[in-house]
Amino acid sequence: MEMEVSKILGYCNSRRLAVVPQGGNTGLVGGSVPVFDEVIINVGSMNKIIAFDKVQKEAAKLVEMFQLMQVVCAFSVMALFMGMYLAVLTNGDVLDMVGTLRKDNTGYDLKHLFIGSEGSLGIVTKVSILTPPKLSSVNIAFLACEDYPSCQKLLSEAKRKLGEVLSAFEFLDSHAMDLVLNHLEGVRNPLPSSAHNFYVLIETTGSDESYDREKLEAFLLRSMEAGLIADGVLAQDINQASSFWQIREGIPEALMRAGPVYKYDLSIPVEKMYNLVEEMRVRLGQSANVVGYGHLGDGNLHLNISAPRYDDTILAQIEPYVYEWTSKHRGSISAEHGLGLMKANKIFYSKSHETVQLMASIKKLLDPNGILNPYKVLPHSLCSYS
Ligand code: MLT
Ligand code: ZN
Repeated sequence: MEMEVSKILGYCNSRRLAVVPQGGNTGLVGGSVPVFDEVIINVGSMNKIIAFDKVQKEAAKLVEMFQLMQVVCAFSVMALFMGMYLAVLTNGDVLDMVGTLRKDNTGYDLKHLFIGSEGSLGIVTKVSILTPPKLSSVNIAFLACEDYPSCQKLLSEAKRKLGEVLSAFEFLDSHAMDLVLNHLEGVRNPLPSSAHNFYVLIETTGSDESYDREKLEAFLLRSMEAGLIADGVLAQDINQASSFWQIREGIPEALMRAGPVYKYDLSIPVEKMYNLVEEMRVRLGQSANVVGYGHLGDGNLHLNISAPRYDDTILAQIEPYVYEWTSKHRGSISAEHGLGLMKANKIFYSKSHETVQLMASIKKLLDPNGILNPYKVLPHSLCSYS
């Protein structure tokens, strides 16, 4: 596979033909689409398992994940699973960083260069992935909180009390819940009581069925007594568990069905995170619906602004305010979606000039003709595309 990619890149480089590596094309920042006349290199058929250890079943599932991340290299959760890479460079060289050693401290760890590069430095054709054994006991609770400080307190308690079994802590506000209930068929609020301001989904994953469940039940009871949780339900079976996830995972689709949406994927210190949503609501008034949800356990807010139409006046209320606010609070303007085309010029809100300059030098070294995924990731001011 890498030899084919090497030939294609070697040819394109010698003819100065720009290319866009494209995988699942599910990105949200225009990272995997051509801007002008770039050649698309579709890597969708790089789906073969070359070899695996004992954990074969898990590896099969990860093939899908590999397809998703091999070009994007932008999703933080994926990075956890990644081992070494084989990457093809623009001059056709194949950089072999595949290995199975757990520890290897010989020189620069070059694979990290490709994480977050969004296909702008080379095309990854092989990875080795650590596949932890699948743990048998999964429990999921869907909870309601009356205010954001309670969600925040619940998170720090969950980290302390659930420790190693805590595998997801997701939150959504009532605006996100209303969208899902109004735009997705077959989704309903599992909590019988009236509407709440915030909802939290907690998942635990462990190896001891009864111990893990008891641990979660005890935690929920204590949190209810402490007034952190207003209501809640623990999934009784796999169908109920997946219906809880459907609410959280259905939000992006519900937003798209609702109409035009301005999307922001931000890392912000948890204690300040929801202030941005509230401030944005004040700024926009009735002109748009400001929705907050995300991976609270990772400090990752998905701020989405659903508007009746794409409108310069609305955009001017949102940007650069949202980026300045995030920068001021030492957050990141891209937690997991990458910069792509849409946010390339915003990189300075999260990275210093020196850092971006070094990135541009690395880009120049690995892709002197600027043929790989042009106009993406780095600011246009630092890249010359002919
Ligand atoms: C999510 O967590 O649902 C996605 O990263 C956000 C999105 O698709 O907007
Ligand atoms: Zn997300």
